[in-house]
Amino acid sequence: MTTTPAAEPLLDVQPSPLALLLLGRDADPNSERGVECPGDLPAASDPDLVERARAAKARLGDRVFILGHHYQRDEVIEFADVTGDSFKLARDAAARPEAEYIVFCGVHFMAESADILTTEKQQVILPDLAAGCSMADMATAEQVAECWDVLTDAGVADVTVPVSYMNSSADIKAFTGRHGGTVCTSSNAERALGWAFEQGEKVLFLPDQHLGRNTAVLQMGLSLEDCVVYNPHKPGGGVTPEQLRAAKMILWRGHCSVHGRFSLDSVNEVRERIPGVTVLVHPECRHEVVTGADMVGSTEYIIKALDAAPAGSKWAIGTELNLVRRLAKAHPDKEIVFLDRTVCFCSTMNRIDLPHLVWTLESLADGRVVNQIQVDAETEKYAKAALDQMLALP
Ligand code: 13P
Ligand code: SF4
Repeated sequence: MTTTPAAEPLLDVQPSPLALLLLGRDADPNSERGVECPGDLPAASDPDLVERARAAKARLGDRVFILGHHYQRDEVIEFADVTGDSFKLARDAAARPEAEYIVFCGVHFMAESADILTTEKQQVILPDLAAGCSMADMATAEQVAECWDVLTDAGVADVTVPVSYMNSSADIKAFTGRHGGTVCTSSNAERALGWAFEQGEKVLFLPDQHLGRNTAVLQMGLSLEDCVVYNPHKPGGGVTPEQLRAAKMILWRGHCSVHGRFSLDSVNEVRERIPGVTVLVHPECRHEVVTGADMVGSTEYIIKALDAAPAGSKWAIGTELNLVRRLAKAHPDKEIVFLDRTVCFCSTMNRIDLPHLVWTLESLADGRVVNQIQVDAETEKYAKAALDQMLALP
């Protein structure tokens, strides 16, 4: 298919003006940035924290169910009833209707999805409300509504199906549900795109341009020229109506601030430093990093690949540092290193620490529900349609 080139470089990961806004008590609680913990946190130096967490969890018994994303700190993962990637945790949350409290050790958009997928009676709690996600912040409801107007003016909205990455606010998932689209995660993006292209001619992929591009080009057989980048900070998204009409994938200009740091240089450097190394990266990495790597997959995929790897094998992993460190510790017979020389945690995932978990569990055990994440009924109705569509993907 012949298309006009995209208006800006496809691999551009300039920071969005919305990323890295300061967290704090006065921040907008409706945004992914959240607010500070409103209670008295135990000191991080308290030597009894582990014992206190155990005791509070025991007092709560089956009334509490703790979910832990793979990027959480070890001190938190130790108390998780289940661990997983965002897809597995969404399913696990939905499968526990008997637990009164779902404590979500992850980030805000994950807790929102858990609230949408659990029953009315269950309460979902995020131990630190400042655990947001800079990628989710890169697509606001207003910006996405404006984008849809641009697509409507270009005459393509009718044939476009929105596909929203799980890493988006409930508002964006609701927009997706309202327009007949689906949510996806990094472990089912290919199936989600396959389904979407059966429903329409084009996909609006939100908010991670890299997952959208990598899946479209490396798994769906589309070309880079089939993709355009819609920049919400430019009039008309920085693309012409002709470009929108020619494109098959309209990629929102968002990215993960952790995975966006890996570069082709880091891939080349590690290959020189560790001969025979296998480079395995998450699909939120830039296209050039993914094509320069040996393997690509979600956090669950990465874990399984290392479990199956032979002793003595060497691996450089391009994903969040808490997970890479845990994998290196779990497989002392294999050489497992972080892909970049400059190490980097996800700062918002790391907001959930043992003091916040202890404060949350002790508050719940004392009958005080803190930091509840509640999505309003209207948003929930449409966001649930998009999440259910994901859970029903073939
Ligand atoms: P997965 O859990 O889907 O692998 O996503 C990684 C991520 O960035 C979560 O914030
Ligand atoms: Fe968001 Fe990236 Fe952190 Fe995941 S790793 S929560 S996408 S900033």
